[in-house]
Formats: sequence, structure tokens, C-alpha cells
Amino acid sequence: MAYSQALIERFRNPKNVGEIADANGIGRVGNASCGDIMEIYLKIENNIVVDAKFKTFGCASAIASSDVACDLIRGRTVEDALKLTNDEIVKELDGLPAQKIHCSILASEAIALAVEYYRNGGKMPTEDKMV
Ligand code: FES
Repeated sequence: MAYSQALIERFRNPKNVGEIADANGIGRVGNASCGDIMEIYLKIENNIVVDAKFKTFGCASAIASSDVACDLIRGRTVEDALKLTNDEIVKELDGLPAQKIHCSILASEAIALAVEYYRNGGKMPTEDKMV
């Protein structure tokens, strides 16, 4: 399976690259086999994700997955942000090759860790998590 146009477009023109200086949710994950690393930054106000950004050192699928994940959770409550699944990310990208599904899992895990950080009052829940 080749990359979809949706994925290629996200990879070439991601909308959510960067850090949030006053982020109160930060999640960092990596994958040991491919070496990709993803960081998600959240700004949460009144239990709503008002902004989401990412920095990803990784493949096109990881970058596109990070970008989609940020869009999908912006405006969600913290509880709904935690419900983000990698299937939602894959659907938004019009599919991923089987060997790239883990890139979408990395994004949903990074969101979950960022929410956990928020709930822990700004403490990293774990050292870098490997997915
Ligand atoms: Fe590992 Fe994309 S190849 S995150």
C-alpha cells in the first residue's frame, strides 16, 4: 500500500508543528525499532484542549499522524482527548501501510501521556515511553 494523498499533504504541509511555551500537557514517546521520537504539547483550559502542537523526529507517517492527532483533539474535553484512538488517525489519513500503523499508535500514546502529565500537575508520568 502506498501513502495516500491525504498523508502526503499532511507531511508536506503540517499545520501544527512547534512547541507551546506555556503547555500544561506534554507527552513524549519513541519507538525502539525505528528510532522515531514524538513530542506533543497541549494547552488545556477549563478541561478543554484549546491548543495542540507537536515536534516529531521521524518518518512521514509519524509526522502526518502527529499533525492529525493535534487537529483531532483540539476542542475536546480532557476525557474525550484520552479516547483518541489510532484508528481515528488512520481514517483521517485515508489509511496507512500495515508496517506504518505503529506511527499512528505513537501519536495516540503521546496524546495520552500529555493528558497524564496535565493530570499529574505538570510532572512527566514516566521517562521517555517506548511504544
Ligand atoms: Fe516508526 Fe514511523 S516508522 S514511527
